[in-house]
Amino acid sequence: MKRMLERLPELFREPTAEEVAAREDLEKRQRVLDLSQRGIPEKDVARVLGIEPLEARTALLSARAFLSYPPSRRILVLSGMGGEGKTTAAAWWAAQGAYSRFAPAPEIARMEYSPERTSYMHALETVLRLVVDDLGSEALDREGRVLAAVDALINARYAGMRKTLITTNLTRDGFRERYGVRIWRRIEEVGGFVELARFLQS
Ligand SMILES: Nc1ncnc2c1ncn2[C@@H]1O[C@H](COP(=O)(O)OP(=O)(O)OP(=O)(O)O)[C@@H](O)[C@H]1O
Ligand SMILES: [Mg+2]
Repeated sequence: MKRMLERLPELFREPTAEEVAAREDLEKRQRVLDLSQRGIPEKDVARVLGIEPLEARTALLSARAFLSYPPSRRILVLSGMGGEGKTTAAAWWAAQGAYSRFAPAPEIARMEYSPERTSYMHALETVLRLVVDDLGSEALDREGRVLAAVDALINARYAGMRKTLITTNLTRDGFRERYGVRIWRRIEEVGGFVELARFLQS
């Protein structure tokens, strides 16, 4: 006991610069691991963590506003030709708070034919906030299973009042044509379809 008391000043001393740096490094590694477990693309991690600059592009501003929307506005579609920062904005959105997941649409299509299909889809249906990235780029199958899976996923999340952020290269008409009126009606009822103008890179 006496020895412990004697050691108290040492235990409660200010950490050294090296200790602070080591702790910060560990926290950063844990954060990176957490983001990759949610499925956030490696290319976006540095921007999401603020290591690389994050400009206030329309895609990012839309995703930021979507964070505070009430559940009555729970679907956001970011549409653009490419390079507007949709995926980065979606990754940023998924990285805020807990219980989110980032799923590329081709992964959803691939998982439709995997033995882990049920648990995978259950996770996507129930997670609090979900990104479906690049919807429209997934290969469709002859039986229509992939389309049915996308339809079921969006419908389950709609019914469960959970937020979904979708990015796509499809236009409004292209999206409606590919996914049908049922999903389109959901988006009109509880969501927004934002058509982004291509960002002019300097
Ligand atoms: N807010 C931002 N600030 C700075 N750079 C950004 C921002 N958003 C995206 N970028 C960069 O711009 C490039 C294109 O971004 P991103 O991949 O998000 O585009 P996209 O709209 O998803 O394109 P695609 O439709 O081809 O998938 C990437 O190199 C990304 O790091
Ligand atoms: Mg993208």
